[in-house]
Amino acid sequence: MTTIVTGGAGFIGSNLVDRLLADGGEVIVVDNFDPFYPRAEKEANLADALAQPRCRLEELDIRDSESAARLVDSVRPDAIVHLAACAGVRPSIADPRRYADVNVLGTIAWLEAATRFTPLPRFVYASSSSVYGVRDDPPFRESDPVDHPVSPYAATKHSCELMAYTYHHLRGLPVTGLRFFTAYGPRNRPDLAIARFTRLIDRGEPVPMFGDGSTRRDYTYIDDIVDGVVRAVERCSSASIYNLGRSDPIPLGEMIATIAEVLGRPAPIQQMPEQPGDVRQTFADISLASRELGYRPRVPFREGIRRYVAWYRSTTGRSD
Ligand SMILES: NC(=O)c1ccc[n+]([C@@H]2O[C@H](COP(=O)([O-])OP(=O)(O)OC[C@H]3O[C@@H](n4cnc5c(N)ncnc54)[C@H](O)[C@@H]3O)[C@@H](O)[C@H]2O)c1
Repeated sequence: MTTIVTGGAGFIGSNLVDRLLADGGEVIVVDNFDPFYPRAEKEANLADALAQPRCRLEELDIRDSESAARLVDSVRPDAIVHLAACAGVRPSIADPRRYADVNVLGTIAWLEAATRFTPLPRFVYASSSSVYGVRDDPPFRESDPVDHPVSPYAATKHSCELMAYTYHHLRGLPVTGLRFFTAYGPRNRPDLAIARFTRLIDRGEPVPMFGDGSTRRDYTYIDDIVDGVVRAVERCSSASIYNLGRSDPIPLGEMIATIAEVLGRPAPIQQMPEQPGDVRQTFADISLASRELGYRPRVPFREGIRRYVAWYRSTTGRSD
């Protein structure tokens, strides 16, 4: 099985690449080492994978449609897992054009490339829980309306879902969109709350808590997310969308307290106002993914934080 993974140097992508290689697959990573966070972190993410002969890197921008087409023509992959994107809600408010350019036009470049040969590859792509917008009637189901995104990022992710469906309708491409709910774990994106708060608490610095600590996120451990992606690739045959969450939202205050407890250090809180574009809660209904993919998240939140902190310590050299 040969898979192209766009965004394969990133957090979710590199963990997926390791799993595909462990399963005996061949993997081509496409990534441009976008400077959103340091290249060195992404190179470290990929170091073990690239040491294996069944893995190689194509350093290119997903918006470069000619290179995408050339690569797909030469590789003829069984599957394309398209994860590359400008991620992050808050920066999208400052630069919506860039988000639309990379996320929407980049996705179209890969949908086009995917339909250049038959048999068509399976096309699995990253969407996001943010498409659900501001909701007070959880849990969120795939059949719920998603027409009120509250950030440019969320709007681009919904646009990708619409485009993927269109390519399925017009060209028969098998497409599966995965709405990830706040993935966390080793190689965590450094801008995400769990990574930032771990660094701050470890250094004894104040933790900026946006709102009163009652906002909730359906944190999902990276191995569970990767397992869901692999299952989605195996079963991708028509046009589907699945939530990949844990269906057990954790309040922000509890998340901070858990990190502090696992690190064995206090968490000095700096109270901040809620941020525009943020949603008060995310909460996945995972019954569809469970029924159709056999998806079952296994890692409880505290255990996931314990594993994350162990990884954090092993990479920073800091100990308790
Ligand atoms: N991490 C989460 O909790 C989460 C939640 C919902 C959705 N997602 C989605 O999952 C996907 C992966 O997210 P992640 O957290 O691993 O992010 P990440 O930033 O760690 O990984 C994304 C990768 O894409 C690459 N990239 C960015 N722009 C590119 C371009 N123009 N050309 C080629 N490569 C490019 C980056 O260099 C990076 O390695 C994204 O589509 C993101 O929107 C993530």
